[in-house]
Amino acid sequence: MSEKRSSFTGKLGFVLAAAGSAVGLGNIWRFPYLAAQYGGGIFLLVYIILTLTFGFSLMAAEIAIGRKTGQSPIGAFTALGKKYAIVGYIGAAIPALILPYYSVIGGWVLKYMVGFVTGEGKAMATDGYFGAYISGPSEPVAWFIVFITITAFIVILGVNKGIEKVSKVMMPVLIALTIFIAVYTICTMDGAIEGVKYYILPDFKKFSFKTVVAAMGQLFYSLSIAMGIMITFGSYMKKDISIEKSIHQIEIFDTGVAFLAGLMIIPAVYAFSGLDGMNSGPGLMFITLPKIFETMPGGNIIGVVFFVMVFFAALTSSISLMETVVAVFQDRFKMDRIKATLLVLVISVSLGLISVFGYSIWSDFTLFKMQMLDFFDFLTNSLMMPICALLTCIVVGYCIKPKALIEELEIGGRFRSKLLFKVMICGIAPVCILLILLSSFGVIKI
Ligand code: PHE
Repeated sequence: MSEKRSSFTGKLGFVLAAAGSAVGLGNIWRFPYLAAQYGGGIFLLVYIILTLTFGFSLMAAEIAIGRKTGQSPIGAFTALGKKYAIVGYIGAAIPALILPYYSVIGGWVLKYMVGFVTGEGKAMATDGYFGAYISGPSEPVAWFIVFITITAFIVILGVNKGIEKVSKVMMPVLIALTIFIAVYTICTMDGAIEGVKYYILPDFKKFSFKTVVAAMGQLFYSLSIAMGIMITFGSYMKKDISIEKSIHQIEIFDTGVAFLAGLMIIPAVYAFSGLDGMNSGPGLMFITLPKIFETMPGGNIIGVVFFVMVFFAALTSSISLMETVVAVFQDRFKMDRIKATLLVLVISVSLGLISVFGYSIWSDFTLFKMQMLDFFDFLTNSLMMPICALLTCIVVGYCIKPKALIEELEIGGRFRSKLLFKVMICGIAPVCILLILLSSFGVIKI
C-alpha cells in the first residue's frame, strides 16, 4: 500500500472504532431472535461464557497479529508465513458474503424508519405486515439498493469519519432508548415478566449443541471476529495501548447492547404471543417493535427516533464491512478506490438480490431447508467463521506459537490472561470448533 498507515489517536479511539464496527444489527436484530429461538436464558449464559473465554482469546490473537504485522488480513497472514495466506483469504471472503445480506436487513430498517416518519406505524403493527412486506416483489429490492448505495457512497467519499462521529453521539441515545422501551414494556404489559424470566433464567433442559453452535456463530458475528476485521483494526493500533483492557471494554459494550436489545424484544414477544412467538426468526424485531410502539403514548415519534438510531448503527457496520472488501480489491488487483467500490457494489447487489428474492419470487427455492438469507447467514456464521477461527488457532497455537503473540500483547501493559489465552488457543477452542464443525456437517452426532 502506498498510503501511510494511519493510526488511532488515544486509547478511546481504538475502543470506540472497534465498538462502532461491533455494535450493529448483530446486537439489535440478530441476538434477540437467536436468544428467543434457542431457549432464552440458556443461550444468554452460553453466550456470555463463550465471550469471556473464546471471544476474548480470539480477539486478542487477531488484534495482536494485526499490530505485530501492521497489515490487513491477507498481508498479515502472509507475513506470518507464506503458507498461512489461505487463512487471510478465507477471512477476507467472509465480509464479502455478509455485506449483501446485511444490507438487505439494513433496507428493512430503512423501510421501517420511513414508515414511522410517514405515519404508517399503525399499519406496521398489524399481524402479517412484515411477512407481506418482505414477500413483495419490488419494495424490499428498492430499500436494499438504497441502503447499500448509501454505504458505497460514504466509502467512496471517505466521509465515514463524519458518520462515525454522528453514530458515537447516537449510540448512547440508542442505549438509553432501548432501556426505556424495555422498562416500559416490562412495566405495562401483562405477561412480560414471564418473558424476562424466560430470557434471564437458564433452563438447562433446553441446552443442546445447537445452542453452542448458534451462540458461537453469533459471538463471531457480533464481535466482528474470525473474519480478519480485528486484524485490520489491530494494524492501526498504537503500541502503548493495552490490548487486553481494550478487549474487555469492547466486550462489555457489545454484550451490553445485545443484552439490552434482548430485554427490549423478548419480554414483549412473550406478552404478545407467548412461547409460540419465540420461533419467528429474522423478522422478530420488525414484528414486535411496531406493536410495542403502537401501545405507547407518542409511540410514532419513538419509532422514528429508534429506527434512525438503528439505521446509523447498521450503517457504521456496513461501512466497515464494505471498507474491508474494498481494501482487499485495492490491494490484490491494484484498483483505484472508486473502481473497487463500484465493483464491490455491483457484486454485492447481485448477491443481495438472491437473499431478497428468497423471500418473494424464489421463496420455493431453499438450500438445506433454509431461505436464501438464512442460508448466507448460516454459511458465514456457522461454517466459514468457525473454519477461519479454527485455522487461526492452529496457526497461532502450533505454527508461530502463542509466545510470539503474547510478547505483542504485553507491550502496552501487563497481559493477565496468559494462561487462559494459551489454553484456549492451543486446546479448548480448536477442539470445540472442530467438534462443532463435524456435527454441522453431520459427520458426528453430539
Ligand atoms: N458486528 C456487526 C454487528 O453486530 C456486524 C459486522 C460484522 C460488522 C463484521 C462489521 C464486520 O452488526
